[in-house]
Amino acid sequence: MVYGRGSFNQLDEIVAPQRKDGMPMVFLIDHFFEDTPLFNRVPLRNNDKIIYADVSYEPKTTYVDAIAQELKEEFGSISGVIGIGGGSTLDLAKAVSLMMNNPGSSADYQGWDLVKFPGVYKAGVPTLSGTGAEVSRTTVLTGPSRKLGMNSDFTPFNQIILDPELTSNAPVNQRFYTGMDCYIHCIESLEGTFLNEFSKSYGEKALELCQYVFLQKEIWDEECDDKLMMASFAGGMSIAYSQVGVAHAVSYGLSYLLGVKHGIGNCIVMNQLEDFYPAGVAEFKKMVAKNKIEIPGGICKDLSEEKFDVMINVSLGMKPLWENALGKDWEKIMTREKLRALYGRL
Ligand SMILES: NC(=O)c1ccc[n+]([C@@H]2O[C@H](COP(=O)([O-])OP(=O)(O)OC[C@H]3O[C@@H](n4cnc5c(N)ncnc54)[C@H](O)[C@@H]3O)[C@@H](O)[C@H]2O)c1
Ligand SMILES: [Fe+2]
Repeated sequence: MVYGRGSFNQLDEIVAPQRKDGMPMVFLIDHFFEDTPLFNRVPLRNNDKIIYADVSYEPKTTYVDAIAQELKEEFGSISGVIGIGGGSTLDLAKAVSLMMNNPGSSADYQGWDLVKFPGVYKAGVPTLSGTGAEVSRTTVLTGPSRKLGMNSDFTPFNQIILDPELTSNAPVNQRFYTGMDCYIHCIESLEGTFLNEFSKSYGEKALELCQYVFLQKEIWDEECDDKLMMASFAGGMSIAYSQVGVAHAVSYGLSYLLGVKHGIGNCIVMNQLEDFYPAGVAEFKKMVAKNKIEIPGGICKDLSEEKFDVMINVSLGMKPLWENALGKDWEKIMTREKLRALYGRL
């Protein structure tokens, strides 16, 4: 990894040794950056290609498959994929890299350790801080029957470039929601049963950085962007060796059924989790108030019982998350009825 303000300028030099004869580097860039100055800084050479990632919706397996198919038809193979954007774009880049070398559909690989072959070279350049997608061994995709990551040893980036300058345009609300993803990763990891010294060391550091930027600082400045980028990295490292917990398990159901985005979905759920993470939720509420953020409510009020069932099924399918949060006997603790009641409050 490289870190630092302006480190984006090293991209050309970093990808140079990865270029293979005649095969392009593909720059997958968050559509927010179309026609912005960043475009002119992308180190295009020869037959390199830019694809603007449409992240209006979080990544779907069909979108990943379409991009990989298009690249195979146009070039046969490629030198690598460089993802530049928020968590959605980073996940797309990871998944496209894998699908350049694995047969079938990305939906076939949603799960744990199903990916068979390493992908093409992949690098990640985050432009929002919080998801930890820059370091995780997953790429979260919505498929035909579930929202689940391609979790594998082949999934992490070969290279990441952490340049906090790139996050400076983020809108206040988006920055907060994505930043809270990191805060919630810390709470879920530190309060989880899978906790170990590796996860604890990174989780505590990430938590301290989140508390500093969201509670202690009076105004948002460059120092906050710098610190939140390192918090995201450390939070991602923390969950790499443990797991997320209740907020994520419940929020996955929301996003599968209603398309609620990850960051805001986690906030909507966290707002109601006093029973599970009392201290974390109290502090979360302080952060919401201090940063003057609205957390939506009542989003499930008009849903039919059938729809609640869909969310409950998606959520309870996230077994490792529940086990981390509640221990081996989690099924006795988080019953369908309890989860139905929780969804009803969101
Ligand atoms: N792989 C993992 O480990 C992991 C972990 C957590 C979340 N995720 C995934 O990450 C995604 C959420 O990512 P996110 O919260 O970073 O948001 P995002 O990538 O979905 O982007 C949110 C919005 O911000 C815009 N944006 C991005 N950078 C910007 C910038 N610098 N300035 C202004 N606008 C900018 C995007 O265009 C988009 O409209 C979800 O798809 C979630 O599933 C992955
Ligand atoms: Fe997350």
